[in-house]
Amino acid sequence: MLEPDPVNPSPNLIAEASGLAEQPMLSLRGIVKQYGSRRHPVMAVDGVDLDVAVGETLAIVGESGSGKSTLARLITGLERPTAGQVLFKGDPLNVDSLAWRRDFARQVQLVFQSASYSLNPLKTVRSAVEAPLRVAGVPANERAARVRELLDTVELRPYESFADRYPRQLSGGQRQRVVIARAIALRPEFLVADEPVSSLDVSVRNQILNLMLDLKEQFRFTMVLITHDLGVARGMADRIAVMQAGKIVERGPTQQLFDDPQHPYTRLLLEAVPLLGGRTAQAQSS
Ligand SMILES: Nc1ncnc2c1ncn2[C@@H]1O[C@H](COP(=O)(O)OP(=O)(O)OP(=O)(O)O)[C@@H](O)[C@H]1O
Ligand SMILES: [Mg+2]
Repeated sequence: MLEPDPVNPSPNLIAEASGLAEQPMLSLRGIVKQYGSRRHPVMAVDGVDLDVAVGETLAIVGESGSGKSTLARLITGLERPTAGQVLFKGDPLNVDSLAWRRDFARQVQLVFQSASYSLNPLKTVRSAVEAPLRVAGVPANERAARVRELLDTVELRPYESFADRYPRQLSGGQRQRVVIARAIALRPEFLVADEPVSSLDVSVRNQILNLMLDLKEQFRFTMVLITHDLGVARGMADRIAVMQAGKIVERGPTQQLFDDPQHPYTRLLLEAVPLLGGRTAQAQSS
């Protein structure tokens, strides 16, 4: 192991010595993402500063077009910001390096809105869940057992009845379970979920959200959960950031944001929440 350098201590050592909090999992510094042309610019993300602490679930809420998915793609390195910096565990994303991208993919996973977009229709459940293990170099004989275990974890049982099915032979909820199994296959430390349940009907939605809460408990990953649904955010998140037109207009601990919203836009969103109870909200308070 490397000895700490007493002349140039690492930022972590400085933080420890000065009693500052642990290094955030993710930091966004002045993030801007502009699309469109010079004459007709679209500011999808317009100056976002945000830290995500290790172990927390942060929900990003906001109406359609507010820049949530763009932010998800910037966080996960799928796109580069026009300006600003994305730091993962204190270091800038280094998407030009293949080795770095491999390492990053092991630690960070993105779950998209609709499983029909993210699952290859020509691949079986077994093959979809096995893919990240294969890429990571897990030997074939171990992979089979790991896939079996992963399907069990996301409650697709019995294994024999699901492993050889194609996505079209699954319900929407079952497909999203496959996507989640694949996302947790390499035990990521950080999960970014972009509207993971918005394509599902309400009963299935709560099942998937509860599964995600269970998995979070079990694997202790950090999560950014993107949703236009404040009810979902309330049931899942420790903290909520509210986005409007590319900016974060308000942020705070979940309960505080619900009890005492400061920004008019947050109040507007809160008025639109149809159901404040629900299983997921109870799941958090129990
Ligand atoms: N690749 C792109 N090219 C041009 N404009 C884009 C692109 N991606 C997003 N935008 C625009 O950026 C803005 C933010 O889009 P984004 O998809 O991030 O919003 P969102 O909050 O995820 O919305 P939704 O809730 O509908 O998913 C929108 O005006 C969108 O039209
Ligand atoms: Mg979106």
